[in-house]
Amino acid sequence: MRILERLEQLYAIGGGPGANRPHPGPGEDEAFELAAGWMSDAGLEVEVDRHGNLLGRSSEHPEVWVGSHLDTVPQGGKFDGALGVVAGIEAAELAGAGTVVAFRGEEVGCVGSHALVASGDPLPAVFLELHVEQGPVLADRDAPLGVVTGIVGYARGELVFRGRAGHAGTTPMEGREDALVGAAGAILAIRDAAAGLDGAVATVGQVAVEPGGVNVIPGSVRISVDARAPDAETLDRLVAAIGVDPAQRTEPVAMGARVRGALSEELAALGLSAVELPSGAGHDAGILAATGVESGMLFVRSLNGGVSHSPDELSSDEDVALAVEVLTATLRRLSARRT
Ligand code: GLV
Ligand code: MN
Ligand code: MN
Repeated sequence: MRILERLEQLYAIGGGPGANRPHPGPGEDEAFELAAGWMSDAGLEVEVDRHGNLLGRSSEHPEVWVGSHLDTVPQGGKFDGALGVVAGIEAAELAGAGTVVAFRGEEVGCVGSHALVASGDPLPAVFLELHVEQGPVLADRDAPLGVVTGIVGYARGELVFRGRAGHAGTTPMEGREDALVGAAGAILAIRDAAAGLDGAVATVGQVAVEPGGVNVIPGSVRISVDARAPDAETLDRLVAAIGVDPAQRTEPVAMGARVRGALSEELAALGLSAVELPSGAGHDAGILAATGVESGMLFVRSLNGGVSHSPDELSSDEDVALAVEVLTATLRRLSARRT
């Protein structure tokens, strides 16, 4: 299948292990160049908008967009983001309609889609995003595909802990002010705060220790916080419990009823049950939905226990083929409704 070969080509950028196309960077740029060539081969009119997002427009219903992102986390997987772009190119070519979009910098806060909605530039009428589930729900339900009901809200920020740097060998344990010991306590409290709120999760993924010597008591520590919840009230409570002042916040958002309905109808046409599930990951579809664009997402079953943001991320060739079929049919249906 051509899209599997394309996923391999994207995965090879940056030399591994895993997918390495962080935003901004040469890996993401190289992926955009490859995708621009594929869009052009598919007969789409290629354009890069002033925010760096890549668009490939058909002449029929260019206001219906389909796509995802091409950047990855460090040592990411083969499917996150990339699948939605390569499948979108396939779907637009087969349906003879729609605009394929590759947004910039999704992994670092949906940079490209945020810039687009903030700019006042014309937005799509409809946005459809195919993505791997990145969790175990569909595998547990024995379902290859699922329709996303909504996307959790998330808040990201930093906490800084200050102590007193000193000699690791000569400073008695009593009376030390070790900033990393303070941060360690806070990290455990962050875990407990999220565990105590229904549907909430929180993660510390980065720890920067100063001055960072093996024989120096840490004088200051900066940690990242990524906190998520399915509704705004729970997110407020989680943020307050953690005590972080978020530099970035994205509200939880529901997917549009029309796109959800169209996806469910196409699943039913193939005799598949329309499993519905929320997304715990952020997506460009959430940014567009929050600004009023009719948006929806189709999830493909993730294998290996649903692992993602890891080179172990996996979906089967059969599920991917089925997903492209449903994506194409849904793009056709959404375009036809607009004539
Ligand atoms: C994006 O993948 C996110 O949810 O962090
Ligand atoms: Mn993604
Ligand atoms: Mn991701």
